[in-house]
Amino acid sequence: MPHEIEPARGKLGILTPGLGAVATTFIAGCLAVRNNIAKPIGSLTQMGTIRLGKRTENRVPLIKDFVPLAGLDDLVFGGWDIIPENAYDTARKSGVLDGQTLDLLKDELRAIQPMKAVFDQDFVKNLNGSHIKSGKNKQDLADQLRRDIQTFKTDNDLDRMVMVWCGSTEAFIEAGPVHQSLEAFEEGLKTNAPGISPSMIYAYAALKEGIPFANGAPNLTVDIPALQELAYSARVPVSGKDFKTGQTLLKTILAPGLKARMLGLAGWYSTNILGNKDGEVLDDPESFKSKEMSKLGALDYILQPEIYPDLYKDYHHKVRIDYYPPRGDNKEGWDNIDICGWLGYPMQIKVNFLCRDSILAAPLVLDIALFMDLAKRSEMYGIQEWLSFYYKCPMVAENLYPEHDLFIQQTKLKNTLRHLMGEDLITHLGLEYYYEN
Ligand SMILES: NC(=O)c1ccc[n+]([C@@H]2O[C@H](COP(=O)([O-])OP(=O)(O)OC[C@H]3O[C@@H](n4cnc5c(N)ncnc54)[C@H](O)[C@@H]3O)[C@@H](O)[C@H]2O)c1
Repeated sequence: MPHEIEPARGKLGILTPGLGAVATTFIAGCLAVRNNIAKPIGSLTQMGTIRLGKRTENRVPLIKDFVPLAGLDDLVFGGWDIIPENAYDTARKSGVLDGQTLDLLKDELRAIQPMKAVFDQDFVKNLNGSHIKSGKNKQDLADQLRRDIQTFKTDNDLDRMVMVWCGSTEAFIEAGPVHQSLEAFEEGLKTNAPGISPSMIYAYAALKEGIPFANGAPNLTVDIPALQELAYSARVPVSGKDFKTGQTLLKTILAPGLKARMLGLAGWYSTNILGNKDGEVLDDPESFKSKEMSKLGALDYILQPEIYPDLYKDYHHKVRIDYYPPRGDNKEGWDNIDICGWLGYPMQIKVNFLCRDSILAAPLVLDIALFMDLAKRSEMYGIQEWLSFYYKCPMVAENLYPEHDLFIQQTKLKNTLRHLMGEDLITHLGLEYYYEN
């Protein structure tokens, strides 16, 4: 039986705290696709298909025709930033999309003006801005964000909204007492508890407004018991964290393959150079620590050294990011992978990925926004583990381990869609072949 899913009628607002390179590349991209200027390459919701039933049935619809997703024409974009520049000017400065394409979208992009941000330099040392809210305490700032959301909804005649954090990476912090319950968190808002970061205030405001919240950066944000309690009690979906793009995407493609063939690993050395504003923020050791923690987890979970000590015990894993301005958004990543085969004979793999950071991240923002809206309309609330596919450091319920293998993540995502629509899950057993032919 298909799940009860509310139809995607009316307009969907997508709000991004942070209107920088990723957010403007995402928005400009959606507008370009809407205007038939370009194709939504990299977006599973727009280009992907899903196999249904037995292979012999030949049922392979596009995902967007199979599940009731909001259409691109029904999206409205807005956000907050500490810099008052409109989306056109920021996109121009970010240097990701070419000027010719941006000029075709100039009027629509110029109309997107960021709202004043909630910001605290203690959490992002290398940034400074003038477009910032002031308030008597963090509760007051959360209330101001809630009013922004309500006004944006009314002004744009929206039916529903989602929020996707596209702001800078905040300094690494661990969950403390103020994060352990909603009660403690709300008390902390009133007393300006230092452990409550700006991204947590946005997440709190979104959840209080019944709006799904997704976290594209490695900040702790919604990955704390207090906000998860709110997500469950208010019946709102949350997901995160840190968009899985460049190097970690390749890592979670390659590592499952090595493991599938029982090839051993002695070490994996990863280094990157990038020259955009994200790179500048990550040049601060506290913000880098958030990113490093998010990037380091994947291999251990995929390779399971505790189950395969002969293959993966004590492998050396190192991740570096260096800020190098000449490259702008065009990140370059190098991986040196020391593997071993039959009888322990060593081999090496070298990967040199000349990628484009925001080009890889933009379609993820779109997919995550559309799927989070689908989750909300399907009454799926709390942590959306089926969206792990999109994240470097997937959020999971307490006592569960995160799934990092891209192919298991993809199966989980597609099976969730099949389940929602009352279709059989695909197990790849191929019984029809063995028993029917
Ligand atoms: N591009 C990728 O491949 C990728 C992958 C994973 C994660 N991310 C994360 O996505 C985020 C955005 O990346 P980007 O390249 O667009 O960076 P960016 O620096 O171009 O944009 C971030 C924007 O957020 C704004 N900002 C910072 N704190 C804010 C706050 N409290 N409220 C509102 N605005 C705030 C900044 O002024 C800036 O304009 C970063 O945290 C980055 O680590 C990016």
